[in-house]
Amino acid sequence: MKFNINGKTHDAEVDVRTSLLDLCREHLGLTGSKKGCDHGQCGACTMLVDGRRINSCLTLAVMHEDSEIVTIEGLGQVGDLHPMQDAFVRHDGYQCGYCTPGQICSAVGMLGEVEKGWPSHASADLTAVELSDAEISERMSGNLCRCAAYPNIVDAIREVAGKGDRQPV
Ligand code: FES
Ligand code: FES
Repeated sequence: MKFNINGKTHDAEVDVRTSLLDLCREHLGLTGSKKGCDHGQCGACTMLVDGRRINSCLTLAVMHEDSEIVTIEGLGQVGDLHPMQDAFVRHDGYQCGYCTPGQICSAVGMLGEVEKGWPSHASADLTAVELSDAEISERMSGNLCRCAAYPNIVDAIREVAGKGDRQPV
């Protein structure tokens, strides 16, 4: 099968039971996305698929031959960081870093959802710059951080939301 990941076409022979996460990590060497729980509870495996954030451990690779997939490696690289990556660094939005790729992909997807007016719970009509810290935390609640870097994660997201210079993925 062919997969469009980070703007490149990748060929891979995969078992029908292979998850998108395992496709990236085990077959393609894209190890930025992390496996925390492998059953949809931690968010460490979050990727962007057709602009939406998903838990890549919960979806099969064979379902995504026609999808545009972006992993943390596709958002930015050293020397050319995505604004969200840059903000996480400057706000110290991590400790061990294990949850960070998922946090960053989720944050980018979350702000995209806000721009599109997709509801999370109560405040669907907010703009990104109006997000309260509580709203950011609620919308990021699928991404767990065992190091409890949550305050700095929220700081980083708030800054990117307020600057309005997010780059589309
Ligand atoms: Fe996918 Fe935890 S590894 S949600
Ligand atoms: Fe360690 Fe989040 S920085 S789990």
